[in-house]
Amino acid sequence: MDRFIDAAVEQFARSHTEPETDLYVRLREETYRVMQWPEMQVDVIEGRFLQMLVRLSGAKSILELGMFTGYSALMMAEALPDDGHLISCEIDGKAEAIARRYFAESPHGDKITIRMGAALDTIKTLAGPLDLVFIDADKVNYSNYYEACLPLLKSGGLIIADNVLWSGKVVDPKDADDHAIVAFNRLVQSDPRVENVCLTVRDGMMLAWRRS
Ligand SMILES: C[S@@+](CC[C@H](N)C(=O)[O-])C[C@H]1O[C@@H](n2cnc3c(N)ncnc32)[C@H](O)[C@@H]1O
Repeated sequence: MDRFIDAAVEQFARSHTEPETDLYVRLREETYRVMQWPEMQVDVIEGRFLQMLVRLSGAKSILELGMFTGYSALMMAEALPDDGHLISCEIDGKAEAIARRYFAESPHGDKITIRMGAALDTIKTLAGPLDLVFIDADKVNYSNYYEACLPLLKSGGLIIADNVLWSGKVVDPKDADDHAIVAFNRLVQSDPRVENVCLTVRDGMMLAWRRS
């Protein structure tokens, strides 16, 4: 993933962000040691930002599409109240096994339910209402995830999508993933059901707030 921000400036921002606790440091190190695409994991700035959004929105019901080894799920779960709940979707059993170990270690892990299988199939089984959705799975399905989740989202709920600037490839799209991310951004931007902001945090984050 290409960086938009100068590495030294990003390091400054990281050093002025609530630091990772030991569990997240170990989760990150293990992910980088054993997983093929470890940079898929959110970093501490994005993780803390997701956590802040959960706290500020008062979300109690979260759906995550794309759990990987569990970093973002656990960050968000930490900010949920005791009766809050997060469902996280994943297809990779190796990532799941790592996530399960770290969830078991955390006092917040029992707020998370892992649903293995294609996320679109899992969404079909959910009734809602959801307070917050974090889209971070396969890019070609971003628009499908958005359309499937929006009806389940409460008024005033938030959809957050990661990687919406796609290392800058959105300005000169070439392959299917590039075009899918461009189409997703266009879909949200033209959707009267939401208010949205496209942020340059890390690889780009789209926030779409559902109007009443
Ligand atoms: C970018 S990573 C998620 C990173 C994670 N949010 C984190 O911060 O650690 C995307 C994940 O989506 C999963 N994935 C891809 N296609 C999927 C699908 N159709 N349904 C569910 N998960 C999928 C991949 O296996 C991968 O682990």
